[in-house]
Amino acid sequence: MTVRGAEVAGSGKGASAGDAGVTTGVLARLRRDAPWWLLPVTVVVVLGGFIVYSIWASTTGVGEARNAPYLSPLYSPGWLANHIPVFPGLLCILVPIAFRGTCYYYRKAYHRSFLWDPPGCAVPELRHGGYRGETAFPLSLNNLHRFALYGAVVYIPILAFDAANAFSLGGHLYLGLGTAIMVLNVVLLAGYTLSCHSLRHLVGGSVDCFSCVRFGRQRYGAWRGVTRLNVFHPTWAWVSLFSVWAVDAYVRMLNAGWFTDPHLLFR
Ligand code: FES
Repeated sequence: MTVRGAEVAGSGKGASAGDAGVTTGVLARLRRDAPWWLLPVTVVVVLGGFIVYSIWASTTGVGEARNAPYLSPLYSPGWLANHIPVFPGLLCILVPIAFRGTCYYYRKAYHRSFLWDPPGCAVPELRHGGYRGETAFPLSLNNLHRFALYGAVVYIPILAFDAANAFSLGGHLYLGLGTAIMVLNVVLLAGYTLSCHSLRHLVGGSVDCFSCVRFGRQRYGAWRGVTRLNVFHPTWAWVSLFSVWAVDAYVRMLNAGWFTDPHLLFR
């Protein structure tokens, strides 16, 4: 069956599917711009790679650098990881997994990339019918995003504490490459968390009249700040994912003896 009457999304040429003579089905599409599948495939590779890596990393029990004051974010908080005999990292990453897994941006990413539901604008879905959105398990869990946010907010000072510890070794000031990476990781994770859509709603998005509510001026200021960050939420989501990855990989490479941490120690 030929699909007619729709414009080629993104091409700006206004050609119709009928012109192209495309058919329905997985390969039927109304767009002829650059490979539309490149983005979903990239997301599958990168996001899937991170998921596999983080599960592997959190079950190996290697969270602390041996000769440097570094702790992987996958093993933070350290006091929690130290009290769990098996797979300590897995418990530590429960909140981050819940936060990212229910994130509005990541939902779009995995709906498109992993579920092809649909994989892109003007590209048909793999399946038709039976879609119940987030009213049925397991997607209904996405409705708990706000609660995951509460947990994620707590993680920021915890990771900031780890980063502060990265400035000290044996009671002396320590400035290493890993210190900088850990600090950067906290900044990027804070950007990701503070740009959350749920947080934006919480601080002011639900208010129709700021001058009519208590602390309206403060809430308006907070809402504006979160809104500025929120514009770049997808970017925060990706760069913070890479920074978490980078800190853990850095700790592992140090422990494996691949190189020595470039640092200054002030005695
Ligand atoms: S919407 Fe992405 S973290 Fe809340």
